[in-house]
Amino acid sequence: MSEIYDIPARVREGSDSPLATLDGWRAVRERTANDPDGFWLDVAKRRVKWHREPTQGLEGSFHTIPDGPIQWFADGTLNVTESCLDANLATRGDKIAILWEGDEPGQVRTLTYRELHAEVCRTANALKALGLQNGERAIIYMGMVPEAAIAMLACARIGAIHSVVFGGFSAEALRDRVRDCGAQAVITQDEGMRGKRTIPLKKVTDEALEGERGVKKVLVYRRTGGDVDWVEDRDVWWHEIVPEQSDDCPAVIVEAEHPLFILYTSGSTGKPKGVVHTCGGYLTYAAYTHANVFDLREDDVYACVADVGWITGHTYIVYGPLANGATTLMFESLPTYPDAGRYWDMVERHRITVFYTAPTAIRALAAQGDGHVTKYDRSSLRVLGTVGEPINPDAWRWYYDVVGEKRCNIVDTWWQTETGGISISPIAPATPTKPGSATLPMPGIFPVLMDGDGKRIRGPGEGRLCIEFSWPGQARTVWNDHPRFVATYFQHYPGMYFTGDGCRRDADGYYWITGRVDDVINVSGHRMGTAEFESALVSVDAVAEAGVVGYPHPIKGQGVYAYIVLQPGYEPSDAIEAELHAACRTQIGAHAKVDLYQFVPGLPKTRSGKVMRRILRKVAEGEPDKLGDVSTLADPSVVAAIVAGAKV
Ligand code: WT7
Repeated sequence: MSEIYDIPARVREGSDSPLATLDGWRAVRERTANDPDGFWLDVAKRRVKWHREPTQGLEGSFHTIPDGPIQWFADGTLNVTESCLDANLATRGDKIAILWEGDEPGQVRTLTYRELHAEVCRTANALKALGLQNGERAIIYMGMVPEAAIAMLACARIGAIHSVVFGGFSAEALRDRVRDCGAQAVITQDEGMRGKRTIPLKKVTDEALEGERGVKKVLVYRRTGGDVDWVEDRDVWWHEIVPEQSDDCPAVIVEAEHPLFILYTSGSTGKPKGVVHTCGGYLTYAAYTHANVFDLREDDVYACVADVGWITGHTYIVYGPLANGATTLMFESLPTYPDAGRYWDMVERHRITVFYTAPTAIRALAAQGDGHVTKYDRSSLRVLGTVGEPINPDAWRWYYDVVGEKRCNIVDTWWQTETGGISISPIAPATPTKPGSATLPMPGIFPVLMDGDGKRIRGPGEGRLCIEFSWPGQARTVWNDHPRFVATYFQHYPGMYFTGDGCRRDADGYYWITGRVDDVINVSGHRMGTAEFESALVSVDAVAEAGVVGYPHPIKGQGVYAYIVLQPGYEPSDAIEAELHAACRTQIGAHAKVDLYQFVPGLPKTRSGKVMRRILRKVAEGEPDKLGDVSTLADPSVVAAIVAGAKV
């Protein structure tokens, strides 16, 4: 039996949510099983401002997805910014919507709902003036400034589809995304700021757009005042065009299934795919999960310290919190700048009540000692969240005992870019927790574990995590490539969505995510495909072949381990390593760093030439004695050399 933590009193008390008790959760889940359409239509009407209220729930199923995307609320029409902005004006016009903390501690900007509404309207008018139209795409390549959220909402205001690209991605990665979605505009800033270092966002944008004819306009927000090159007729300063616009911009009303955004994410093969989320279902699910998992209260100061470049930032910094009229923090800096107390310093100064971060940050901060935490007043905190990767029980307990002083519940939220919002997680006031478990599914989410033979596991057991039955927040398709959407998620187990994760279910029905079972690695909560690394590495002249796998890393969760086979005539050297490093950096981004290189005479292959990745994984995990069946190997001597030269 694993330890179980009851809900601290201050988390339990004062909640008015139907999900505030486990019995309530059970009752709601039952309704989602018996009457999913009725349930989600009720939620949609309650949480979202519609132009025309939907009368239809789900159209299609996981069986019909090969024929075309499923739909939710298909006859409804709306503009998501009316839920996020206009609907809050009457009751919360002077409430702070965005609380921004810049790179320097105490460098703060606030925007009330009224101010945010006006700023989004001006920016939307500016985008219109630049020629961006309903249904066209805009890439947003920015740091964590309020203008990033404003840009997202401004696109949504006019029906344009945004695709935010994380500011760490390289020019090549940015160009791939610009091309794939056929962007007409790019919104960026001169430079980003993180831990006193500048990030040359405009410079990278210029490089990415060299020779690209599709992008007609680049809107540039001035953050640092650093020098930038300028392309006449294409580049426009934010501060020159936005302030002169009218703060009235009627929202373009779209159908529920109109795309809201595209977000690129890595899979096991090929280039990142553009996951498409649509307006009505996504917003419904974002608002519902945000309000319930964190048990949001009107005077909460809610802080999710992710980046808007990832799905967490979309759903739980921007869309969910604003649709719920919350005060949402945007944090520009690093958890360790100027020192490891930065988060708790912010908690004290802003009286943060709900705090949401990633296990990698928790582990890194725990390693710096309790002093950085205890010197700040954390009495405002009520709920602590984690997301992005499995949290090890030690880190969980540190978060619970030291950061939350045993007064807060921890919500370990499992979900994915594709699920749109939290799918398996404690409900803060209701769910007793177990360190390391994401606990129980959200209402409307029906997890299934499948075994190696494609059979459903009942009761306790371990297998591959799938979800049976659609929910409104699920991704609808891959941009321009619906067959890839079908092949990636719906073909492994017919009639089910396959998550790519392994998972165990215990006797209490609690879920324990064990990590990816495909060739995706999760480094510090950043999802990366081994295929992307391999393609960057083999582009180096000296390299014949490369095999990349993840291995356990004490802080980052997973590290990146690369096996390199050199071309004849080359010897391993620091110079080659530097070249390999540079290739990953320029082709993927600064966050794509190989931790360990091992030069090997060859990769382990079957007689039919397929790389046996399982062997690469086992050696990198420090378990060369557990290689399993190696009888199909073409050349066993390769394995002996790999084991002998292992870096772990
Ligand atoms: C993958 C999705 C969802 C926002 C951030 C990542 C892993 C996510 C957890 C968790 C264990 C988790 C899974 C998942 N993951 N949350 N609480 N416990 N693993 O989104 O980049 O789409 O990555 O992150 O492996 O499949 P993403």
